[in-house]
Amino acid sequence: MKEKVCLITGANRGIGKATALGLALKGATVIIHCRNRQLGENTREEIITGTGNTAIEVIVADLASLEAVRQVAGEVTRRHTALHVLVNNAGLTKRRHTLTEDSFETTLAVNHLAPFLLTNLLLDTLKSSAPARIVNVASMVHRWGKINFDDLMGQRNYSMDRAYNQSKLANILFTYELARRLQGSGVTVNCLEPGMVVSDFGREYTGFKGLMTNKLWRPFMHSPEKGADTVIYLASSPEVEGVTGKYFTKRRVVRSSRASNDAILASRLWEVSEGLTRLAS
Ligand SMILES: NC(=O)c1ccc[n+]([C@@H]2O[C@H](COP(=O)([O-])OP(=O)(O)OC[C@H]3O[C@@H](n4cnc5c(N)ncnc54)[C@H](OP(=O)(O)O)[C@@H]3O)[C@@H](O)[C@H]2O)c1
Repeated sequence: MKEKVCLITGANRGIGKATALGLALKGATVIIHCRNRQLGENTREEIITGTGNTAIEVIVADLASLEAVRQVAGEVTRRHTALHVLVNNAGLTKRRHTLTEDSFETTLAVNHLAPFLLTNLLLDTLKSSAPARIVNVASMVHRWGKINFDDLMGQRNYSMDRAYNQSKLANILFTYELARRLQGSGVTVNCLEPGMVVSDFGREYTGFKGLMTNKLWRPFMHSPEKGADTVIYLASSPEVEGVTGKYFTKRRVVRSSRASNDAILASRLWEVSEGLTRLAS
């Protein structure tokens, strides 16, 4: 991965940090995106110390803001003329219904609209750097997801799981639609399920779910390093050179849900996302 420039969102902990470390070990220039400058700098130091690779950079932005997403894209293209790998990893869950400064439900904004906009803003750079790869970190919970166009922002009926499952289904629909649009461009896009990974992801879970995720299941869950394995594989392995529009788990292509394979749904979601993110402007 020497001479390759990689951007990883949400790289100050969990799967994102393990991915950054893995790609740094392979000699890539790694741009760590995070929303807290100090945490980003700490991660940068840790990766440099752990790998000896000094080509590690930090970009700070809260992806809940479309303006901040635009600034990330602008900053990356100001710093680098090439971008070979974009890993859309940052994600969250929200117990309570909250709206971002753009008046979007926060889960949809951070987990789907931010990667949708960031990727589209970086597409020209990725294309001119081809062969290039986009990797979207999705989840098996997409299988319970439904894109609720009538109440996309959960204003009428909100639940944390419904919002999260919807956003992870959106990740896969976005991956497949983008792969169709990128045919012949030299830029591939794939998504994956990392498995159940011990991270801070379950911090919004309470009650029975909190107990299971944050305590009882812990001994059986993967480490962030194991969770990052398929991400690093998709970002760097020659075995998946040219492979695009697929959903992976444990380095294998698996079939995602029927809804995620609905091309009409994917195209409708694309149009709606384009409008919400004001991509054209
Ligand atoms: N853990 C699992 O079992 C599991 C399973 C399936 C899929 N996934 C997916 O894997 C990805 C990574 O999850 P993880 O388990 O590594 O979780 P994590 O430890 O909670 O890490 C999430 C990362 O996303 C960042 N992030 C969250 N909201 C953000 C925002 N508004 N702006 C910028 N960055 C933001 C976090 O930054 P802060 O540190 O500032 O919060 C953190 O760096 C997510 O997309 C998740 O959906 C995880």
